[in-house]
Amino acid sequence: MSALVVLDQVTKAYQGVPAVRCVDLEVERGERLAIIGPNGAGKSTLFGMIAGEHRPTSGSVWFDGKDVTSQRSSRRATSGMSRTFQVARLVSTMTVRENLFLAALTGQRRGVRFWDAFAKRADVWADADAAMVDAGLAGDADTVAGSLAQGARKTLEMAMAIVQRPRLLLLDEPTAGMGYEDARTATAQLKRLLDVRRDMTIILTAHDMEVIHSVAERVVLMANGETVLEGTPHEVAEHATTKALYLGQGDS
Ligand SMILES: Nc1ncnc2c1ncn2[C@@H]1O[C@H](COP(=O)(O)OP(=O)(O)OP(=O)(O)O)[C@@H](O)[C@H]1O
Ligand SMILES: [Mg+2]
Repeated sequence: MSALVVLDQVTKAYQGVPAVRCVDLEVERGERLAIIGPNGAGKSTLFGMIAGEHRPTSGSVWFDGKDVTSQRSSRRATSGMSRTFQVARLVSTMTVRENLFLAALTGQRRGVRFWDAFAKRADVWADADAAMVDAGLAGDADTVAGSLAQGARKTLEMAMAIVQRPRLLLLDEPTAGMGYEDARTATAQLKRLLDVRRDMTIILTAHDMEVIHSVAERVVLMANGETVLEGTPHEVAEHATTKALYLGQGDS
């Protein structure tokens, strides 16, 4: 299996009602995939099964050629998955720079022993500072994370996930809850962060078409727990099925 992520006939049911039904999906190494669909389509449930927070009712999940269906999310993180909503990694009383240092240090622990990484902390600071500049956060270096605006906070979370050099980056609704201006700033910064890490595989869920157009190469449309359409962002956005599904969904 050469794809980095493979979902094989994955189903997740809640009290017997399927939220995701028999989904097959392959994500190649280095690919940038967006999963879209109306509210309740099953995007977050599918995402959770890739990250390991939801166990499928049936079917299997493969990462890097290994069956990880029953592996916990912490184990999957150690083998190279990072995601943005792990808010616990963002320490509100620490500065932007310190948070990035901690994330970079955690990332290094995957490859070498903790104390070896700690001994090389000058390199870790250099990594953290480079990520801070790439993310456009240098002006907030000494600001404590807790007092950042929503957009900058999300950007910091993304930069913290990316500085760990994951093989797979999972972004669940990266601009959710932001106002228009914050969302545009966060999108531009995300794009810049991703441009410097071309080898990273990315799966994101989003309603925000600007994020999808600037990050994704392929889009999978879900509805009623199934994948119904896939193509380039332009093909999917312009397709009659997409338009019909989103019709009347004010925020989508
Ligand atoms: N823990 C749960 N218990 C019961 N039903 C759930 C649970 N989580 C999700 N569901 C149901 O599964 C379906 C898919 O939900 P999911 O959150 O995956 O959709 P989504 O595509 O992410 O939607 P949104 O765009 O609103 O985030 C919905 O009908 C939802 O009500
Ligand atoms: Mg969701």
